[in-house]
Amino acid sequence: MLAQEVIRTKREGAALSEPQIQAFVRGLVDGSWSEGQVAALGMAVFLRGMGREECVALTRAMMHSGRVLAWPDMPGPVLDKHSSGGVGDKVSLMLAPLVAACGGYVPMIAGRGLGHTGGTVDKLEAIPGYRSTPSPAEFDRLVRELGCAIIGQTADLAPADKRFYAVRDVTATVESVPLITASILSKKLAAGLQGLAMDVKWGNGAFADSPAMAQELAESIVAVARGAGMPTRALITDMNQVLGREVGNALEIHETIAYLKGEGPREPRLHEVTLALASEMLLMGGLAADASQARARLQQALDSGAAAEKFARMVAALGGPADLLERPAAWLPEAPVLRPVPAPRAGRLLSQRTREIGLAVVELGGGRRLPGDPLDMRVGFSGMRALGECLEAGEPLAWVHAGSESDAERAVAALLAACELGDVQAPWQALPLVAA
Ligand code: URA
Repeated sequence: MLAQEVIRTKREGAALSEPQIQAFVRGLVDGSWSEGQVAALGMAVFLRGMGREECVALTRAMMHSGRVLAWPDMPGPVLDKHSSGGVGDKVSLMLAPLVAACGGYVPMIAGRGLGHTGGTVDKLEAIPGYRSTPSPAEFDRLVRELGCAIIGQTADLAPADKRFYAVRDVTATVESVPLITASILSKKLAAGLQGLAMDVKWGNGAFADSPAMAQELAESIVAVARGAGMPTRALITDMNQVLGREVGNALEIHETIAYLKGEGPREPRLHEVTLALASEMLLMGGLAADASQARARLQQALDSGAAAEKFARMVAALGGPADLLERPAAWLPEAPVLRPVPAPRAGRLLSQRTREIGLAVVELGGGRRLPGDPLDMRVGFSGMRALGECLEAGEPLAWVHAGSESDAERAVAALLAACELGDVQAPWQALPLVAA
């Protein structure tokens, strides 16, 4: 089947047949479709859309483009969570050990940073020695023994998505509901899950910039996943500000450790999103009878130290230091330059341009400009203020961690430009954090 005829069909706005979609996915994997042809079909779908049946066919074809995992004889439910991407979103790092401590099994195949968003695997690789690509047999063993393992996407799992995604990333075709649906679900279906909690983010730091697009994406993901036999629940969560207080690879590992150990108050928005998604997983896995029981079990796993213990064991089993939780500062890399970002006036933090904050971390070296770029794990922002907080003039809006004075200066300016301070008396209403 000629690639150009498949592209022409979609360019004219017609539905692609299953054989056409299968030909495209074969072409992605065996390289018989050129980069230009893949990009052209991506843009045609972006502009013309896809019906539900086409999206299901694309999801299935990409899922079967590589190995499909199975988890026979597991003593508990095999569950996972996925986020559509945000800034400061380290929820997976807390949630996987939390759910494991409550009896779930979480084989989490996580992503790398994309555009302005951070990636769970990049964050874990800030831990010296952490191996994010164990062999399939080791991954299987770790999930069975520990209850959770967070690793990177392997070359043999949904390889069609890997290539398509890389092309979409650089051709402005990421923000398409059917393409995001097929991309996420092909990987999650290939992971052989019995339940998936989806965190669909909306806002100025998300790929869905409106609640309507997030709703459409959530409905699409739930319908296609359920159609493929994988129970899935989606929450729509607010990404109009950074999640938590820290943004940057090593900094987010510090925040995760403090969260799991209960050192200091847990940042309320981060805590709520983590518990809301983890509760959905316990409910899907039959590990709690209702939401309040799920919350109580999760809180108990935090308070008893069981979740922290799971995280520590996972890190050590994957090559990280055995005493990371006791001595994080001894292991996690630290930036040579630390600069406060003083508030230019007294006032209330009214808004953040979250995408710009994510891009400022990329500029510092914490994200990639080109695929394969090395990351500076040390850099980012700490001590971020939440919207609605009031500051005196000169109080830090955050701290910049940078590799050099000039980088720090640019990051200070970027953060100031991304934060809007208004009068303390000005009416201000928090946006709902979680919507079903
Ligand atoms: N995350 C994915 O894995 N794929 C997308 O297309 C968008 C976010």
